[in-house]
Amino acid sequence: MPRLSITDVMNLKGSTEPFSMLTAYDYHTAKLADKAEIPILLVGDSLGMVVLGYDSTVQVTIGDMVHHTKPVVRGSNNAMIVTDMPFMSYHGDHGVTMANAARLIQEGGAGAVKVEGGKTVCPTITALVNSGIPVMSHIGLTPQSVHALGGFKLQGNTLKGARALLEDAKAVEAAGAFAVVLELVPAELSKIISERLTIPTIGIGAGPNCDGQVQVAHDILGLSIDYTPRHALKYADSGALALKAFKDYKTDVSSGKFPTKKNFRTLDPSVIEQLS
Ligand code: KIV
Repeated sequence: MPRLSITDVMNLKGSTEPFSMLTAYDYHTAKLADKAEIPILLVGDSLGMVVLGYDSTVQVTIGDMVHHTKPVVRGSNNAMIVTDMPFMSYHGDHGVTMANAARLIQEGGAGAVKVEGGKTVCPTITALVNSGIPVMSHIGLTPQSVHALGGFKLQGNTLKGARALLEDAKAVEAAGAFAVVLELVPAELSKIISERLTIPTIGIGAGPNCDGQVQVAHDILGLSIDYTPRHALKYADSGALALKAFKDYKTDVSSGKFPTKKNFRTLDPSVIEQLS
């Protein structure tokens, strides 16, 4: 079966059930998510925080994104792979933006890129789309602008803010985006935006009325052990399981319980004899 195309994703707008998108940054997560029939895998620049240990996404480079896109592509067969363009990789000269996006598609193997921002990035969205690169947009709380926004805060919660967000949503659709992520937006506003757009909306902390939902895999697996955001539901406590496994391993090594006979091979006694 071929991978999901942008047409398939756009057609999800009309479906009766919301669809899911999940982040993946490595081969095994991609393989499991694909097995679970998650239709879209996002190689999010959230990897800066959940994989690389930075305190925001702004330190992530285009090289990091290429590096993590490759194993996700290798691990999945059916999902559409969308990769984030990282901080400042699409804000200058269009030639540089195209070269960066081309690396994600050609070297990384992504099927689409995601860019953060509304009206101001529309010329970039159009330039990418005109070059044949599908673009997913991301508005509302845009983590790459966390310093300008003054923190990870709800967006569009005043009349002025809600109007601005609605205009941004319309603008990115007109610019050619095939879908739009709405992050930390009040539920009523994401409902209005979803009703007024023809492209799918994908919410995170934006309520139930979006066409789809996206989550960071580490949050729902319980691997983000320092902090679980309010918008996430911990479906498994993998962090606690991993901690127990690491402790048990350490105890078994110190007590001599590990390795067991099953974990190693032995030498023929005649060889041992000749060695002595
Ligand atoms: O980087 C990311 O994981 C994202 C999602 C939170 C939408 O952009």
